[in-house]
Amino acid sequence: MKTASPNRHRVLVADDQADIRESLRLLLKNEGFETQLAASPAEVLSAIEAREFDAVLMDLNYSRDTTSGQEGLELLTRLQTLDSTLPVIVMTAWSSLELAVEAMRTGARDFLQKPWENARLLSILRTQIDLRQALRRASRLEAENRLLSVESRPTMIAESEAMQPVVDLIARIGPSDANVLITGEHGTGKEVVARTLHAVSGRTSRPMVTVNAGGLSAGVFESELFGHVKGAFTDARTDRLGRFEIADAGTLFLDEITNVPFNLQAKLLRVLETGEYERGGSSNTRGVNVRVLAATNVDINMEVSAGRFREDLLFRLNTIEIHLPALRERGVDIDLLANHFLRVYADRYRKKIAGFDAGAMQSLREHSWPGNVRELDHAIERAVLLSPGSMIRASDLALRPANPGAALRLEDMSLEEVEKHLIQRTLARHSGNVSRAADALGLSRSALYRRLEKFSLE
Ligand SMILES: Nc1ncnc2c1ncn2[C@@H]1O[C@H](COP(=O)(O)OP(=O)(O)OP(=O)(O)O)[C@@H](O)[C@H]1O
Ligand SMILES: [Mg+2]
Repeated sequence: MKTASPNRHRVLVADDQADIRESLRLLLKNEGFETQLAASPAEVLSAIEAREFDAVLMDLNYSRDTTSGQEGLELLTRLQTLDSTLPVIVMTAWSSLELAVEAMRTGARDFLQKPWENARLLSILRTQIDLRQALRRASRLEAENRLLSVESRPTMIAESEAMQPVVDLIARIGPSDANVLITGEHGTGKEVVARTLHAVSGRTSRPMVTVNAGGLSAGVFESELFGHVKGAFTDARTDRLGRFEIADAGTLFLDEITNVPFNLQAKLLRVLETGEYERGGSSNTRGVNVRVLAATNVDINMEVSAGRFREDLLFRLNTIEIHLPALRERGVDIDLLANHFLRVYADRYRKKIAGFDAGAMQSLREHSWPGNVRELDHAIERAVLLSPGSMIRASDLALRPANPGAALRLEDMSLEEVEKHLIQRTLARHSGNVSRAADALGLSRSALYRRLEKFSLE
């Protein structure tokens, strides 16, 4: 949230009499407050819509010769709708207790009789400002607690060559404020990368707040991002903090970014460009400072070509792009991850399991992992639960092709097809490194090259 200066509170003073406005302005200025003056309800509303105030000090009567306070009460109702947390203190010269009570019922926090006593006025004002800040802190904390899992840096295993560009990029841009688009198939660890980026940034004292763009209607999603004020729509019974506000000074992780409804993409673009937005139902512009990380497992460029995703928004999001390779391309990481998950689950389920036997290891290396790291994670958990002995066997893993229709059966293939298939798999496992694939296949590099040419695999 932007306030002009963190230590100077801004008070809106509303009275139709210029001399009263002026004496209040002087009093408050001497006490270190910043003031803005309004002479009518209309001026109050336009001031409130233009910027944020810490409190409002207002008269209840505006038209000459009226003493009913009706205009003031109506204004009070409007202010309540705009921001129910804003403390309003009312003043009235023809003080009738009834009017004061009515004002308090309408939402005023306190009242003053004219002529006021300076000390009392200042004490009421300070109390109300403090109360509001405490309230805001409380609701912010509450919202944060709901969203945060107490986690610092996640485990990220990435020793394979295929993962080196990812590791390098995280080290280089993690500490910056650059927006990052994280791409990769399902379960490749996009969220792990987002958490790691946040953990190595200078924003760790603040949360990483996640918003999943999938499955929410445009209206709900807008409230989710930007919040709303009470009365913004029928069900908006209270003010609601948006995720941008909660993530202020921290990191916002927009997961499944291509699901952001098209008509919201412009609003998202604006806050990314200017750091400004409004809560639903309010025209009060707020400022935030968030670093945005986004993730998707679909081809976002295709979404742009199809006209479903704004190109200008993509350019804002992908200042840096981190692409996660599929697990089947990560060679050595498969072993490391399998052993990591084995330790985690053996510990959790209190099972004494030493490792994988040769058959299990082989089936781990040969499986194509369409569900990537998440699939591996689940497979090991299941195997740990099922395994009767001290070693995990291939049968405990029970890895089946995810899509049996597409599975290749050696029996149905020609020798050439088998050879081509084997070469492809081996290359994928060694991240396209021809020397290593040749080694693994027991071929010389040139022999492998000849075959690559023959099968048009180059
Ligand atoms: N490099 C890694 N090291 C250790 N664990 C990992 C790694 N990558 C992913 N995981 C684990 O695999 C699981 C899936 O990872 P994550 O949720 O980050 O994937 P994702 O790409 O966001 O998946 P989806 O596309 O389905 O949202 C998590 O349990 C995560 O902890
Ligand atoms: Mg994810």
